[in-house]
Amino acid sequence: MTTQKLDALRDYNSAVKSAAEILCKGGIVAVPTETVYGLAASAYSDSAIKAVFEAKGRPQDNPLIVHISSLDMLTDVARDIPECAYSCAKTFWPGPFTMVLSKGENISESVSAGLDSVAVRFPANKTVCDIITASGLPLAAPSANTSGRPSPTAARHVIDDLDGKIDAVVCGEDSVVGVESTVVSLVGDKPRLLRPGAVTPEQLRKVLPDLVIDDAVLKQLKSDEKAASPGMKYKHYAPKTETFLVEGCSGSFVRFVNSKTDCAAICFEEEYYSINIPKISYGSKHNESTLAKNVFSSLRDVDNLGVKQVYIHAPSKDGVGLAVYNRLIRASGFKVITL
Ligand code: TXA
Ligand code: MG
Repeated sequence: MTTQKLDALRDYNSAVKSAAEILCKGGIVAVPTETVYGLAASAYSDSAIKAVFEAKGRPQDNPLIVHISSLDMLTDVARDIPECAYSCAKTFWPGPFTMVLSKGENISESVSAGLDSVAVRFPANKTVCDIITASGLPLAAPSANTSGRPSPTAARHVIDDLDGKIDAVVCGEDSVVGVESTVVSLVGDKPRLLRPGAVTPEQLRKVLPDLVIDDAVLKQLKSDEKAASPGMKYKHYAPKTETFLVEGCSGSFVRFVNSKTDCAAICFEEEYYSINIPKISYGSKHNESTLAKNVFSSLRDVDNLGVKQVYIHAPSKDGVGLAVYNRLIRASGFKVITL
């Protein structure tokens, strides 16, 4: 299949219109969002959802997030919506925040991978919202990467992974947040953080004071443990290069990586000039938002350095740092070195 490149930076209106037309016909289209690029399909079309799973090579038991572009659409997607969901919507939407609710009956079974819940997000990115509105459809969209690879934060990342496997890519702006949305389940007895993102636990607790942080956020689940968020059990975001996460101060990290051969480092900008092996800076150690914005492209770029292993300096777990840390322990298959 030829993948159409719809250039939203040069001809916005025609890119939005063509994307909506393809989606209405049951096609699959990669779209920019403020978190990462998503691979969108009509949440009502079983065959389009199946095509998304196939293009990504995604495990069948990992459900998708449904995207809406107005609060009115929420009742098309979910039912029995609790009051706290509306408080969350008021505070965090549009934005990098997803809630798991009871599934509405028109949503395709394959969206929720057989669960009776559905994850819903109202994104802040104008392009994806205009495409949702133009199509008139809630759009199911996982990140637009090959399953297991780092998530795409630029159209070129999508093309690298999925060219020839999807109907179209809307080539828009790079993702400003850089890590996927915060996912909170509102279907259990207490609100539960399933995946950290740019909306932090501190911000969530102002609206959901009894929020519980799921064990899978920072720990590897044992093979017999059931994941509240199926996506958390898979190896994820991994470059091809063998990856280790390293905890310790800047001085120890610099000494550690400088003693290595045939390796690279993903480091903080403050350390960059002290490191004498191949290296990529992913931002200042004092600015977790920048680290979030750059983390996935750094994981992709490391494969071009021609080394066997990469050591990544772990960020603090404060604020959005928790989300960056969560992605990096998965990228490294939970191989953490403490100096
Ligand atoms: O920022 C984002 O959320 C991006 C953009 C494209 O919106 N999307 C994204 O989708 O990250 P994906 O498929 O890569 O991740 C969806 C996560 C997975 O961890 C999945 O297990 C979880 O959400 N999820 C989806 N539906 C769920 C449900 N009904 N119950 C529990 N977890 C669910
Ligand atoms: Mg993903």
